[in-house]
Amino acid sequence: MQVAGQAPSQVAGQAPSQVAGQAPAPTITAIVLGSGLGSLADKIESPVIVPFGDIPGFAHSTASGHRGQLVFGTLGGEPLIAMAGRLHRYEGWTDDQVTFPIRVMQGLGARRLIASNAAGGVNPKLAVGDIVVLCDQINWLHARRQIAVPDKTVPDKTVPSETGAASAGFTIGFPAGRRGQLFDPQLVSLALSAAREGGFVAVQGTYLATLGPTYETRAEYRMMRRIGADVVGMSTAGEVLMAANLGMSVLALSIVSNVADPDRAKVADHAEVLEAGDAAAAKLEGIVRRILSGHRV
Ligand code: 6GU
Repeated sequence: MQVAGQAPSQVAGQAPSQVAGQAPAPTITAIVLGSGLGSLADKIESPVIVPFGDIPGFAHSTASGHRGQLVFGTLGGEPLIAMAGRLHRYEGWTDDQVTFPIRVMQGLGARRLIASNAAGGVNPKLAVGDIVVLCDQINWLHARRQIAVPDKTVPDKTVPSETGAASAGFTIGFPAGRRGQLFDPQLVSLALSAAREGGFVAVQGTYLATLGPTYETRAEYRMMRRIGADVVGMSTAGEVLMAANLGMSVLALSIVSNVADPDRAKVADHAEVLEAGDAAAAKLEGIVRRILSGHRV
């Protein structure tokens, strides 16, 4: 039952327990914490931690900087489910496996997804530590561009030749009815205003998802700039598509962990990406808290 439509005096005249029973159900928010951003999970109040391995059908996270846990609890009193550590296509998991956690969280009642990632800044205006609030995405998660090199130090599952093989099977389509709009404009503007209030830089931008696991050449960064990408990473696009298909409101945030500059001699490395994640976790937390309390303001 809803309070809407009733005069305030009618509501005020009821016993507190009756009013509580009529309050709208709280929106459960699902959050995917990207590379180096898992520390937000430690802020969750009354946490119940479930390792991925304990959930039937869940694949296990293996990428460094990813914990592999679902954490249930509240943040600022608002209910959420955080996925500390995500699954990547480059680890050899299929689209089905990578997006399965989104289906689980939606099935558990999540109506909103906040996906986060550490990404390379392709737009020359971006600096390390900036936040990009995604307004669109380019999905290259199926474009294999790597030649397989035998590497005895890497488990079979992550051998590049197998990441290509893993692309066989289902792919998630663009949801009908969203009119080209994957991301929720209200959540985007809430995120931007949280950044303004927090005194840090957040801009809107387009995310380009590559299959990975390798970073790119300078010529590729030049190409990415020209086709309109602002940030590049190896995740998120599939999760966003799945959530949109399930009818969830979606927000995705990239933290610029390194600058993908075609004119810079140094290439990106994973350690650099993880380090920047630590520094940016506080900004992410500010935005998440603002979104969680957003329906009350
Ligand atoms: Cl420079 N490229 C890709 N593909 N993913 C990244 C990245 C770059 N930096 C962080 N993640």
